[in-house]
Amino acid sequence: DGKYTVTMIPGDGIGPEIAASVEAIFKEAKVPITWEPVDVTPSLINGKTTLPADAVASINKNLVALKGPLATPVGKGHQSMNLTLRRTFELFANVRPCKSVQGYKTPYENVDTVLIRENTEGEYSGIEHEIVPGVVQSIKLITKPASERVIRYAFEYAKSVNKPEVRVVHKASIMKLSDGLFVETAKEVGKEYPDIKLSFELLDNTSLKLCADPSEYKSLVMVMPNLYGDIMSDLSSGLIGGLGLTPSGNMGNKVSIFEAVHGSAPDIAGKGLANPTALLLSSCMMLRHMELNSHADKIENAVLKTIASGPENRTRDLKGTSTTSHFTEQVIKNL
Ligand code: IPM
Ligand code: MN
Repeated sequence: DGKYTVTMIPGDGIGPEIAASVEAIFKEAKVPITWEPVDVTPSLINGKTTLPADAVASINKNLVALKGPLATPVGKGHQSMNLTLRRTFELFANVRPCKSVQGYKTPYENVDTVLIRENTEGEYSGIEHEIVPGVVQSIKLITKPASERVIRYAFEYAKSVNKPEVRVVHKASIMKLSDGLFVETAKEVGKEYPDIKLSFELLDNTSLKLCADPSEYKSLVMVMPNLYGDIMSDLSSGLIGGLGLTPSGNMGNKVSIFEAVHGSAPDIAGKGLANPTALLLSSCMMLRHMELNSHADKIENAVLKTIASGPENRTRDLKGTSTTSHFTEQVIKNL
């Protein structure tokens, strides 16, 4: 029991197993948090995917939530639950860092990237039409206020972690109006931050450069429209060993929801094989957001130490043989 209450959305598939792992580790680490578990099974109200009122109330009261993976609800007309949460709480900036896990080898060493994704509009606006059979239209909506707030968030983030540069990733060479607006807005916001360098890079070029040699990206923060951020965050994640190792934070002005980027993995659900690392690292991001830094450091170090301690202590997705509960016990030992 503790000083703070945090909403817990365990989620679907492997969600409850990895959420239980986080809860067990938090308890042993004496994190002063009481979890408030909520069910977010939605209903369709006036054709809109709607969250249960008590889940919304819990998040609005606690302001911080940790969320496992959610499957998109079945049934015609339902929208993705992830998007519903982002929209409901105006979580406009999605922060996705990728840092090499020492002790888990990939072809890339010392990766340290941070990508901030616009999280409310772009191709995710959900505006699609069939004009006539065989001709459809999906609207990519870009607005100045949403661009401005995520770009400002990127500058503030860069300042807070002492990175000297913000890089806008875009394709304004083709998407002249929409990405053009994003780029122009960045130039305006950039004037407020004379000490931080502002640079621009075309999306295709960023993809190539990240794969070829990501070292340049250590000293900057990337910011980009929604869909580009979705794709580039998976690409970045691939550099360090995959979505099982990648945390994320959906940030709003009021509420923040921290979540693993991976899906609910129904094929291994309930089998004790899931890797809780991404949710654990997301929970460490959450702890830092709550200024519980020493608890975050303690848990993060224990997780990284466990992964580095050999394949017998790693789950299958990391070429190991450990079960979820064995992994959890080892992290607790390493606290
Ligand atoms: C992510 C996911 C989601 C997205 C899906 C599950 C809707 O891929 O968080 O990156 O596309 O944003
Ligand atoms: Mn994604």
